[in-house]
Amino acid sequence: GQRPLIDHFGRHITYLRLSVTDRCDLRCVYCMKARPDFLPKSELLTLEELTQLSDAFIRRGVTKIRVTGGEPLVRRDVMTLIENLGTRLSTTGLEEICLTTNATQLPRFARDLVAAGVKRINVSLDTLDAATFARLTRGGRIADTLAGIDAADAAGLKIKINTVALKDDNEHSLRELIAWAHGRGFDLTLIEIMPLGEVDAARSDQFLSLAQVKADLEKGWTLTPLTDNTGGPARYHRVEETGGRLGLITPLTENFCAGCNRVRLTCTGQLYMCLGRNGRLDLRAALREGGLDAVDALLDEAMALKPQAHDFDVSAGAEAAVGRTMAHTGG
Ligand code: GTP
Ligand code: 5AD
Ligand code: SF4
Repeated sequence: GQRPLIDHFGRHITYLRLSVTDRCDLRCVYCMKARPDFLPKSELLTLEELTQLSDAFIRRGVTKIRVTGGEPLVRRDVMTLIENLGTRLSTTGLEEICLTTNATQLPRFARDLVAAGVKRINVSLDTLDAATFARLTRGGRIADTLAGIDAADAAGLKIKINTVALKDDNEHSLRELIAWAHGRGFDLTLIEIMPLGEVDAARSDQFLSLAQVKADLEKGWTLTPLTDNTGGPARYHRVEETGGRLGLITPLTENFCAGCNRVRLTCTGQLYMCLGRNGRLDLRAALREGGLDAVDALLDEAMALKPQAHDFDVSAGAEAAVGRTMAHTGG
């Protein structure tokens, strides 16, 4: 095999987050502006380029690829990409293909995902209240997301719910949401809002500390720390009262960068070594102009450049750490 991807701080990069589109059928208020500027489709990596670049990462030791967006399932040819990746599961070092999705398209795709080799998906859902859901997603219908979750469950996908903890919007209903997820047999992960891109609200008005949320949850529940993890940034706990697993993603209150094992590729082929930093390398240009050797050379450069940590700050008036949104970078 080829040289593994090991950065300047000795961190082994085995997890690629692959954003296949910046578009989404929802427009969550903390994720994008009411009128986002979507990229022209001509800027996107082609299906063939996405597959070639994925293969380049797999050759360098990536074992887990998460397909993200935007909403990955609104890209027309995404199932072909996932099917291509699926054929790598038995023939290469690739061990896991995951998806992060808002679930609205899952009634159409859940069975195909399973057939392609996907076992586990993360579904974004911040509230169970239909009116709050419509407001947070600017017009989304919660019934569509719930139908997608049902379809995924029926198809046999393991489901984790992702919930961004939001001041006022869901802070008083998190316990209910967690209990619902655990009752259905889903893990749930809470996420601290990160100052990515310009949105229409101040980040300081949205941010809710998970240190505080955890303390509140512990007023009625016993949370037992677990040591196993899913390879992402979440730290898991067993909620003894529900029997389910609760993950906490705490970029602001408890930094996890020391254990970083990932990089992300945008839908235009930009490789970001850190979610919270601007540094990037143009893998699309490398592939188009220099082929796979040039890609390999850039991957070496990426390891030399990967920063130690983000420097997120959500205090009043603070600028967004980086100009791009989560939908552009793939989280
Ligand atoms: P698992 O494979 O289930 O562990 O998934 P994951 O948590 O790695 O992926 P998911 O797409 O569900 O991401 C959940 C949240 O974690 C999103 O808000 C991501 O942006 C965030 N996240 C993922 N990786 C990183 C990271 O390296 N740094 C930071 N700060 N946040 C991250
Ligand atoms: N901060 C934290 N999480 C975010 N997400 C989108 N934008 C942000 C942000 N600024 C979440 C989505 C999804 C996950 C991939 O990232 O809700 O669950
Ligand atoms: Fe879409 Fe996800 Fe952003 Fe919501 S968080 S607008 S579901 S990309």
